[in-house]
Amino acid sequence: MMKEIVVLSSGRGSNFQAIIDAIGRGEIPARCSGLVTDNPSAYAITRAEKAGIPVFIIDFSSFPSREAYEEELLRVLFDLSADLYILAGYMRIVGAGIVSAFRWRMMNIHPALLPGFPGLHAQRQALDYGVRVSGCTVHFVDEGTDSGPVILQACVPVLPGDDEETLSARILEEEHRCLPKAIRLFCDDRLEMIGRQVRILPGNS
Ligand code: GRF
Repeated sequence: MMKEIVVLSSGRGSNFQAIIDAIGRGEIPARCSGLVTDNPSAYAITRAEKAGIPVFIIDFSSFPSREAYEEELLRVLFDLSADLYILAGYMRIVGAGIVSAFRWRMMNIHPALLPGFPGLHAQRQALDYGVRVSGCTVHFVDEGTDSGPVILQACVPVLPGDDEETLSARILEEEHRCLPKAIRLFCDDRLEMIGRQVRILPGNS
């Protein structure tokens, strides 16, 4: 059965584009029923408009407090009543109210192999630490920062001479593969929670 998905993005939206393209190629049995952004100048908005996806701008700076912003965000997400909410470069911490409203129905993509290097500037953290491999992680969202159950991960090498830009670009290529794959698994009902572990049920792909 066709699922409804909603994407949250704060900026460039290349992961959002990867999702749009995968749906277009028939690789994800879903309809994207909205892009939600906290940033009125996010390039993701242009991508949504090109793809005919409704845009919901909740301008963080126009709210008196984080609580007021979160209340409105929760209302919008709830009204959209999607099966799955995807944080794809959404640059804010999601409050506990939203996490519990959409438990195991909200996923995030992070540009490091969690639990290493959570939070901001993950690629720079990895370079500063001196690891030989890094990558990306798609995980369900829980109350912590980048701490939820892991769905999929992919590795890339860290090469001599890498800087933040070159490593980020190598990781981003994997993000664009991993995130649509994880969404597909969800939409095919192939993700099962066992405690805090995600079991991938067998299937055709
Ligand atoms: C990605 O690296 C994602 O992992 C991180 O923020 C970046 C967003 O890129 N959370 P984009 O907006 O999808 O192009």
